[in-house]
Amino acid sequence: MDLFIDTANLDEIKEIAGWGVIRGVTTNPKIFSSEEGVDLKTRVMEILKVLPGPLSVEVTTNDFEEMVSEAMLYASWSSHIVVKVPMNAGGLRAAKVLGEKNIKTNVTAIMSVNQALLAACVGATYASIFLARIGDIGSDYSEVIRQTRSLYDRAGYKTKIIVGSIRHLQHINQAAEAGTHITTVPYKFFREMAHHPQTDKTINEFLEAWNKIKQPV
Ligand code: E4P
Repeated sequence: MDLFIDTANLDEIKEIAGWGVIRGVTTNPKIFSSEEGVDLKTRVMEILKVLPGPLSVEVTTNDFEEMVSEAMLYASWSSHIVVKVPMNAGGLRAAKVLGEKNIKTNVTAIMSVNQALLAACVGATYASIFLARIGDIGSDYSEVIRQTRSLYDRAGYKTKIIVGSIRHLQHINQAAEAGTHITTVPYKFFREMAHHPQTDKTINEFLEAWNKIKQPV
């Protein structure tokens, strides 16, 4: 299972890419809206210099024609860009058309196995299942992920599952357990994943013991 980072903040991407633990970046219009004063294309190109894709960039319309023309523009910036399209009729049509032009797609805001099946049927590169937002209405997100993975494997679909909408550390473990291919994680959780009070205590104990004998290394 791979980890992506779910942010458009360059400092966050630089730091976590520097750890060597992420294989891609996902964004959406809401994530970009918190990066004030930054031009979309400029930031996209900055991100790709730090981590050369895959970088998901979402269309900003529900209209099929507009989706395709935005997607063509994004794809002209770099072949490492994956165009995110919404999980609706226009988004599915767009994913099919874009796939035929060899443009990678990510069908986003998937909340059910039925939707994940449709994304695979149009040949989407990725299907983004929104874990916490499924749980918000009382549905079982682990079952949605588990059944989707099982369906994809049995049918031989090449579409990869990305689990997003992560609210706490246990969600990352639950997504992995349910069989996701990739989980996209907000910056703050990488720091929380790396930290454990018993680890800090243990490392400090070892260093204090070593410092008592003060041998050169
Ligand atoms: C994933 O690609 C999305 O950017 C993200 O995880 C959305 O989830 P949220 O809006 O529930 O945080």
